[in-house]
Amino acid sequence: MRLGKYLQPRKYLARLQAALAKPITDYEADTLTELVYQKTVAFNRTTTLDLSMGSERLLLALGIALAEGARGEPCRVLDFGGACGVHHTLAALMFPDAALRWAVVETPSMVRKARSLETETLKFFESIKAASAWLDSVDLVNNNSALQYVDDPLGVIHELLALAPKVLLWERMMLSSGATHVDQQRSLLFDHGPGAVPAGFRNRKVVNKITRLSRDEFLRMHEAGYRLRCQAEQRTYLFSRR
Ligand SMILES: C[S@@+](CC[C@H](N)C(=O)[O-])C[C@H]1O[C@@H](n2cnc3c(N)ncnc32)[C@H](O)[C@@H]1O
Repeated sequence: MRLGKYLQPRKYLARLQAALAKPITDYEADTLTELVYQKTVAFNRTTTLDLSMGSERLLLALGIALAEGARGEPCRVLDFGGACGVHHTLAALMFPDAALRWAVVETPSMVRKARSLETETLKFFESIKAASAWLDSVDLVNNNSALQYVDDPLGVIHELLALAPKVLLWERMMLSSGATHVDQQRSLLFDHGPGAVPAGFRNRKVVNKITRLSRDEFLRMHEAGYRLRCQAEQRTYLFSRR
């Protein structure tokens, strides 16, 4: 047995340093947005899709939206909490010939940081209203591990459903099997953002307040207008319009 494989003093020390440093408690923290931005800039150079990132469900949802879209029209995506546009990069890698119009809704600090990554077809907004005005209509709503961080998750769901998208993908949801309640999520800074950690960052703890929405209520909100096409691990829900 190679003991060195298990005793990794450097890794242990890095984790210890992260544990002792003051935790980040805010998604708007400069260090967090800077790390996600730098990781995304590097990730945008990827030329081959890495399926181990769990991107296949987004690609499935986008495939349905593209198939149901009108010929010659771009597929319009509202990506709520889409960070610096990582999901757009994955979508463009898989569907290089598809015409996409992609609006990311993010926190003001993430939007400020991501602005330099904007193109004709990828834009960043601070509100669903501004994003949907630019998109005109919405084919796909993508939401990957974002709803639990907002102050009013029910309000965000209502606002997104009112846009009547053809397809809705809720990924990495943190729902409650009972009543809606507030909880805490602990993670490490280095686990945020796609791909490798750039030089110059020190690991830190990140502690976020999250709201675990009642799963029954979440599902009920979609019942009138949407059909649940697939779900996975009680964390992923893909709906299409009835
Ligand atoms: C766990 S990260 C997920 C990022 C990205 N969707 C992904 O899968 O890599 C949560 C994201 O939600 C964003 N977020 C937090 N509060 C938000 C809010 N009120 N409105 C929009 N985005 C928000 C954060 O800035 C962060 O980018």
